Amino acid sequence: MATIPFPYPDGLTAPGAADAPFAALLAVADLPEGTMRRVTAGELDLLLVHLAGGIVAVDDRCPHMSAPLSIGELDGCVVGCPLHEGRFDLCTGEPERMPTTGGLDPDGAYHPTWSPAGREPKVDPPGKKAEARRLTRVRRFRYYPVRIVGDRIEVAVPAAWR
Ligand code: FES
Repeated sequence: MATIPFPYPDGLTAPGAADAPFAALLAVADLPEGTMRRVTAGELDLLLVHLAGGIVAVDDRCPHMSAPLSIGELDGCVVGCPLHEGRFDLCTGEPERMPTTGGLDPDGAYHPTWSPAGREPKVDPPGKKAEARRLTRVRRFRYYPVRIVGDRIEVAVPAAWR
């Protein structure tokens, strides 16, 4: 089966990427299905992921506090962040599980802190740190258009990042 770009959700194109020129960033053979990889284009660190339905490109920055998702865990469409246990769905753009720090979801609804099973409950320290956690909004993914040309993966990279 030919490799294809993944049809990401409407309205979630990365700023400046809709009309950006494409750049060849990786060989298709270097991204087997079920794998993900960081690729850098100018100042932009991208996460290329080969899902069952095709290839997707997003920022290699967690939608919570910007940790590199490329060193997280990929499970189907969902990537797990290495920093606060948030899980994010690359097929829908939505958070699948909020981070342990809690905070605001993409629609602005508040979620409390939580701890994984078997660990002590996380106590939210008073002061600015707690306020920062509370006010940090987990965003939806923004996607960079992808196309396959020959044996190369090309991604639309906005001029601002080249
Ligand atoms: S930085 Fe990824 S869950 Fe917090």
